[in-house]
Amino acid sequence: MKICVLPGDGIGPEIMAQAVRVLQALDLKFEMEEGLVGGCAVDAAGTPLPEATLKLAREADAILLGAVGGPKWDTYPRDQRPERGLLGIRKELGLFANLRPAILYPELANASTLKPEVVSGLDILIVRELTGDIYFGQPRGIETREVDGENQRVGWNTMIYAEYEIRRILRVAFEAAMKRGRRLCSVDKMNVLETTQLWRDIAEETKKDYPEVELTHMLVDNAAMQLVRNPKQFDVMVTGNMFGDILSDEASMLTGSIGMLPSASLNADNKGMYEPSHGSAPDIAGRNVANPLATMLSAAMMMRYSFDDEASAQRIENAVKKVLAQGYRTGDIYEPGTRRVGTKEMGDAVLAVL
Ligand code: NAD
Ligand code: IPM
Ligand code: MN
Repeated sequence: MKICVLPGDGIGPEIMAQAVRVLQALDLKFEMEEGLVGGCAVDAAGTPLPEATLKLAREADAILLGAVGGPKWDTYPRDQRPERGLLGIRKELGLFANLRPAILYPELANASTLKPEVVSGLDILIVRELTGDIYFGQPRGIETREVDGENQRVGWNTMIYAEYEIRRILRVAFEAAMKRGRRLCSVDKMNVLETTQLWRDIAEETKKDYPEVELTHMLVDNAAMQLVRNPKQFDVMVTGNMFGDILSDEASMLTGSIGMLPSASLNADNKGMYEPSHGSAPDIAGRNVANPLATMLSAAMMMRYSFDDEASAQRIENAVKKVLAQGYRTGDIYEPGTRRVGTKEMGDAVLAVL
């Protein structure tokens, strides 16, 4: 089992170090190879996604990624920005299906900013399309043009989905719903956007193959509101790349912190990249305070989806549950009466359980 490890930038290396320790503690035959992606790759190789990294990612059975980006690179030309490295791997490997499970561990019911009764028992799966939409649509750009007789800068992007892209992500979502509560909510903005009208039409067509699944539709603005009003109404949610990006960050707070939300990005062959849903958190980088649990839980998803090893996935998830029950908390999930620890100490606690 060959794992490509991409720590990235900011808190990336700190949280990755702990997730790697967890994988090593499983005592399985892993071969782990580290690569550069994001800002660190721009600094070292002049590009956010060096050929060597892409080769490593292609040859590995699975990829574990920390996070990329940071203020240092925010003024770089767009093709040299760290985020391009991440988007490049997703696109090159066809990782179109992004699964983001928002699960509230009972111990964290008070860590959420929402009332405990609103979030307790929460278990939502957000299925986000990851290689299309306005993220990748052409044309795009910024240029100076004449507008109403005056030269002005104009910026534009293209929100576009082809039928096959919508169809395949909806299938993933329906299949996931079949294995869970059999309720699927498709989120769109069909009242305004043609691309999401097509999305809704295809959702209805796909439903014919899944008669046991209850399909509902919701406009994205309402979905954002419903997620904080009554999140437990949802089982599986499916949506496009940009809406999914925004809604999954929102959903992370239902679980206590963005530091708790893992993700799997899968392609048609179930090859996957696993990454926490959060970013490189430049505001806390290098201080040993970041929460490494989302990255460890992403490693658990890797065991489940790429290596078909449910037992190891559950070992990691149970170890996380146990340390939370023991009271260990990083700053983002801390509350009085619990034990505040750093990134590395959280790793120590999980390792002790494992
Ligand atoms: P962010 O997710 O990095 O941080 C948002 C807030 O959440 C910050 O206050 C941060 O301290 C906190 N936070 C995030 N992860 C945490 C953790 N594990 N433990 C404790 N607190 C945590 O989002 P941002 O600030 O908007 O973006 C920062 C950089 O990260 C940008 O360059 C952005 O492009 C990049 N980014 C990368 C990814 C990725 O690599 N997958 C995802 C999102 C953002
Ligand atoms: C995420 C991130 C990325 C995205 C950025 C860093 C390109 O926010 O993984 O959620 O928007 O997909
Ligand atoms: Mn995001």
